[in-house]
Amino acid sequence: MIPGLFHAMVVGMQLSGAVPSATTEPPPTWHGGIGSLVAARCGDCHAPDGAAPFVLASPEDFRPRRSFVAEVVGNRLMPPWLVSGGRPVHGDRTLPEPDRSALLAWLTAGCPTGEPPAGPSVVEEAPEARPLDASEASPRLHLRMRSPWTVPAEGGVRWYKAERDKRTFVLPVGNPRPLRVRALDYRSAAPQTLGAVAFSADPTGDGRRMVDWDEEPGSYMMADIRSVPAGALGIVGPGGGRLEYPEGFYVPVPPGSDILSEVHYRPQGRERVLDDTLVLETLPNAAPGRPLLPVNLMVPRVTLKAGETRRYANQLTLPVAVDVVALTPRASARCRALRLEARLPEAESPVSLLEIDDWNPHYRSTLVLEQPLRLPAGTVIRGAWDYDNSDGNPRNPVVPPESIDLGARSGAMNVLLLSAPVERREVRELMEFIEVESRRNRG
Ligand code: HEC
Repeated sequence: MIPGLFHAMVVGMQLSGAVPSATTEPPPTWHGGIGSLVAARCGDCHAPDGAAPFVLASPEDFRPRRSFVAEVVGNRLMPPWLVSGGRPVHGDRTLPEPDRSALLAWLTAGCPTGEPPAGPSVVEEAPEARPLDASEASPRLHLRMRSPWTVPAEGGVRWYKAERDKRTFVLPVGNPRPLRVRALDYRSAAPQTLGAVAFSADPTGDGRRMVDWDEEPGSYMMADIRSVPAGALGIVGPGGGRLEYPEGFYVPVPPGSDILSEVHYRPQGRERVLDDTLVLETLPNAAPGRPLLPVNLMVPRVTLKAGETRRYANQLTLPVAVDVVALTPRASARCRALRLEARLPEAESPVSLLEIDDWNPHYRSTLVLEQPLRLPAGTVIRGAWDYDNSDGNPRNPVVPPESIDLGARSGAMNVLLLSAPVERREVRELMEFIEVESRRNRG
């Protein structure tokens, strides 16, 4: 007998209520645990007004698409999470193996509902509301897009062979004093169209001029301004959301800034309107904090012939001791994999910082390390990106492939290491290093 057919029969028996053989474990049920697993692991995005295109909140939501869901979960495409190795990071969405097999068994068994828990449902007592003490609250700034923008129904590729899937907007702040931002929260009117959203502070007015030059709201240019890379404040996504830095750290916004948001969108087959808000949560005046600076390890240019695959690499040497708090990787859709490692002075072997085996630019975000990582002066940080411009790359936007030449001010590919100097007096030295690196890389 064909194994697949046998399998289908077993599943069919269970579905029709036949008594399973003594050796077969009964399949898990929605009320027996799958419901809470789905709420915890899928619910944030697969909710009404979530980032995902459909709701997954009941057995009925799963049944009509259960083999599709099983395939996507079986191939580890969902939940979306890029990190495959390196330092542990906050908010890891990898599905633990027991959860994954329970979910697959439930899907195979036809999504049984099971018995709702017996007895009176436990009423949880709401935690007592505590009045916020004004001095401890983080002052919040609500910033709104200057005008709404309609995401095109269909995508495409630009004349310079990059994907036409991002747009940069200006969110004016006009702050008279520097701001110390400890968290960012992006609330979109159309989360389903959004992949990643990258934020940076621009005190120069260049971003605003670039945007005003475009006829529509926003600009098709990327948000790299002078030596400040797009995403220097952080990246959230998919669908927007919240990014919080650990206590005691902040990203600085100079006086008189605009916030630039570089929005990576995915056309939805019909027009969607972005009319989005960014909330900046700042450190209260009295609170101590250390600034996070964007140390940028980059490869400025990618040139590949049609069908070519190649590894690009670069490295830098830290001039001062730092605590690395977060990592923000960037590469285009033709990148397959990336690696980042640190070689400490005198150390035998390098420390792996970040490994991504299956890169997807739409799922990139700022990865906050579970523990800040201290790296002494003289540490060499090395990054490697594997590019694949063949038609064997399922994410190649141009098929059959054509030669490409991609570049950007802060790198066609880069990793921003948000780093706080260990010694306060070395902040300036690190800032100068970042400037010099940026000039060196641009040649
Ligand atoms: C962080 C948000 C997020 C989480 C968590 C998440 N999804 Fe998704 N899901 C998405 C988005 C966004 C899409 C749309 C397709 C894409 O972005 O690639 C999607 C698409 C899908 C699809 C369709 C795949 C396709 O190729 O169109 C399936 C099936 C799916 N999700 C299942 C799940 C399941 C099951 C879980 C929980 C175990 C889950 N997702 C968790 C965001 C999420």
